[in-house]
Amino acid sequence: MEILIVGAGQMGAGIAQVAAQHGHTVLLNDRDNELIERGIAVIRKNLDRAVEKSRITKAERDNALANICATPHLTNVEVEVAIEAVTEDLTTKRAIFEVLDQQTRPEAVLASNTSSISITALAAVTRCAPRVIGMHFMNPVPVMPLVEIIRGLETSGETFDTVKALAVQLGKTPVETRDFPGFVANRVLMPMINEAIYALYEGVASAEAIDTVMKLGANHPMGPLELADFIGLDTCLAIMNVLHEGFGDSKYRPCPLLRQYVAAGRLGRKSGRGFYEY
Ligand code: CAA
Repeated sequence: MEILIVGAGQMGAGIAQVAAQHGHTVLLNDRDNELIERGIAVIRKNLDRAVEKSRITKAERDNALANICATPHLTNVEVEVAIEAVTEDLTTKRAIFEVLDQQTRPEAVLASNTSSISITALAAVTRCAPRVIGMHFMNPVPVMPLVEIIRGLETSGETFDTVKALAVQLGKTPVETRDFPGFVANRVLMPMINEAIYALYEGVASAEAIDTVMKLGANHPMGPLELADFIGLDTCLAIMNVLHEGFGDSKYRPCPLLRQYVAAGRLGRKSGRGFYEY
């Protein structure tokens, strides 16, 4: 299958890697060539590590890399599926869906990897809402087995079947959810992370202590603050804002400390500093 991926960051690169490893031709797009090349460099590094660990052969690595084509311009894109994986911002995503609507074949599926934004609202900017769907991968994409599949209000059964079959073919386990803020993964995960930030803000315990409690006491692979740094604090804040605005319930209010860290540019691993230093 030919798949367009818009966004070559953490998530887009991960999706591109998995799709390329499963034999798909991947057109990788971002705002400029440098961002696309950065994404491909991350994929190359991941595949090299997989070769070193004897999880894949050198030929498999080379085939996967050969399946990825840098695609800086979105004009007349002949793909069966397009997956948008850009920053968690409604205005940016809507602008991309407008372009995808114009520049892909009418029968192509338009999927968003959004963590929390309404699929129905993204579909509304296109001329064909039935072909729009949510396909939410987890980070790191090559490792995490889940894909949440979100039906917008008007998503067709055919679109759903195409995306579900693709998720299975990529070795993932699809789970269907309905289009409400945060779907399931982030409706459950993000308030826990936000609560951990409140615990730090209120001086209940240190960041290390909060993370140790959840790792040793609840068997989480990462503590919630370490995980927040891994996801990106700007993304965590964007998701909390979607939950807060979407449900109008104060239980989803983002912790002021989270807002302050984002304002300071302490975004977690990607900026070198969040709750921890990297
Ligand atoms: N890309 C590819 N592979 C990676 C990777 C990456 N970024 N990071 C780790 N791996 C692989 C490693 O190569 C290793 O593979 P092998 O076992 O085959 O050797 C395996 O994952 C385990 O890695 P490590 O031994 O280095 O480290 P670890 O055991 O501490 O595991 C982890 C790392 C898988 C990230 C683990 O800490 C974990 O599961 N953390 C929680 C991740 C999580 O909760 N993700 C969801 C985030 S929320 C989200 O994505 C939704 C959203 O919308 C915000």
